[in-house]
Amino acid sequence: MANKQFDVVVIGAGPGGYIAAIRCAQLGLSTACIESESYADPKGEVRLGGTCLNVGCIPSKALLRSSELYEEAQHGFQMHGISAQGVKIDVATMIKRKDNIVTQLTGGIKGLFKKNKVTLLPGHGKFVGREDDRWRVDVNGEIVEATHVIVATGSKARHLPGIPVDNKIICDNAGALAFDATPKRLGVIGAGVIGLELGSVWKRLGSEVTILEAMPDFLAAADQAVAKEAWKTFTQKQGLNIQLGVKITKVEAGKKGVTIDYELGDESRNLQCDRLIVSVGRVPNTQGLGAEDVGLELRPSGYINVDHNCRTNLPNVWAVGDVVPGPMLAHKGMEEGVMVAECIAGQKGHVNLDTVPWVIYTHPEIAWVGKTEQQLKNEGVEYRAGQIPFAANGRALGQGDTTGFVKMLACARTDRILGVHIIGANASELIAEAVAAMEFNASSEDIARICHAHPTLSEVVHEAALAVDKRPLHF
Ligand code: FAD
Ligand code: NAI
Repeated sequence: MANKQFDVVVIGAGPGGYIAAIRCAQLGLSTACIESESYADPKGEVRLGGTCLNVGCIPSKALLRSSELYEEAQHGFQMHGISAQGVKIDVATMIKRKDNIVTQLTGGIKGLFKKNKVTLLPGHGKFVGREDDRWRVDVNGEIVEATHVIVATGSKARHLPGIPVDNKIICDNAGALAFDATPKRLGVIGAGVIGLELGSVWKRLGSEVTILEAMPDFLAAADQAVAKEAWKTFTQKQGLNIQLGVKITKVEAGKKGVTIDYELGDESRNLQCDRLIVSVGRVPNTQGLGAEDVGLELRPSGYINVDHNCRTNLPNVWAVGDVVPGPMLAHKGMEEGVMVAECIAGQKGHVNLDTVPWVIYTHPEIAWVGKTEQQLKNEGVEYRAGQIPFAANGRALGQGDTTGFVKMLACARTDRILGVHIIGANASELIAEAVAAMEFNASSEDIARICHAHPTLSEVVHEAALAVDKRPLHF
């Protein structure tokens, strides 16, 4: 029987892969997407959406919301004159809600594949060679052929030597999103995005949370003013115990939980906890892909080497998302997926990595785009800064959520916006205006002249733009 043939085969159905497949199909290319059983449902049916939908962005945000409501009901109602007694959290119901959202969305991608006529090929994809200008890919023993292959195999949690993750007691992101009860004492290794988001979830639900971070600086990638405000809020107001500059020396899991030995300066310390989350970054997924067999060039770190259009060293082989260098973010992978599809269809694709927004969904949220103030200083760029606190905003006061600020950085010569840094309520939504402005090379004066609805949190962005020119109206 002849092999199945397609214009494009995408390996991996995470945000990079499923978006690439849908866009290819929209552009009239016959397209298949291979997805392994990594996230299969209890019946063994393949689930689409990759890390993001199954064990990443979506489930973590579902739990964040539940934990915020619990916290609000316990501590946020009183100031409104509302009393709520006997507030309880049923972790099983919370997890079930999260699972239902995951099921709904992963099923939704299958629907989108049908609608766009993308063929789903369940199984593990592996390059086996190239004949007559067509790539041959093995899918669980069946060979499919394609003119173009897009590798979108994503990433997996980095584990540390000597720390065996069982996803029951010692967990990576997958286990940490599925606890069956609130641990009394939760340890977290790594004060990065996952450590802070999931540490906050379980802290709000009642855990005593200790986060052990190797680096001496907190949130080193963020603007220092934002990192300072976040540190103050998380450690002093919210009670997260974050220890910086630690060296983990030994981790042992026993019947009574986990013991972590670590060094802090010259001191040897010890932490006992009931559960441990290991969140120390992610590594690209290229094992078993047949990369070596066909000469697909990888970096020593395991990422697939690509050019600015996500072309690999092999003809008509592309790679997008977490498996290539750059921020490991779902929206970055999706943008690359669209770009590659459009390049394959002969159009001009483009992804501007300088305007990819970062968001940390803690409370308050943290979001930024572009350069930090310290980066501009290091690069010797002359800039003007405008910073306005949420406490000066009527909507923030009305909502009882006044922590944080918006800081805008603009070129001193041209006034072009170089970076926007937000810590505060709805930062994840507010950052979109800054991204749009930067994508279109707008100046702070452009934002200053745009009418912002009143009363909204977006007025703080407006005021920050006015503050760049030292003429804020409400501060
Ligand atoms: P993945 O989503 O990892 O998908 C790759 C897919 O390929 C998987 O389904 C895998 O099973 C499949 N696959 C791998 N190898 C093969 C093979 N050989 N054959 C067939 N299939 C294969 N990002 C954000 O932007 N916002 C967030 O809020 C956010 N929250 C996160 C929270 C957590 C806890 C985690 C862990 C991550 C979070 N991320 C977030 C990151 C985001 O999930 C990733 O950047 C994104 O999923 C990467 O997409 P991808 O398509 O490159 O890879
Ligand atoms: P991360 O890179 O954000 O943070 C890892 C942290 O662990 C760093 O601070 C690092 O210094 C520390 N670390 C590394 N080795 C250590 C060790 N041996 N001991 C102690 N600390 C150590 O990685 P994280 O949190 O695992 O998340 C992975 C990625 O997933 C993120 O980088 C991000 O790309 C993505 N993600 C995005 C989210 C979002 O957009 N809101 C949410 C969650 C994850």
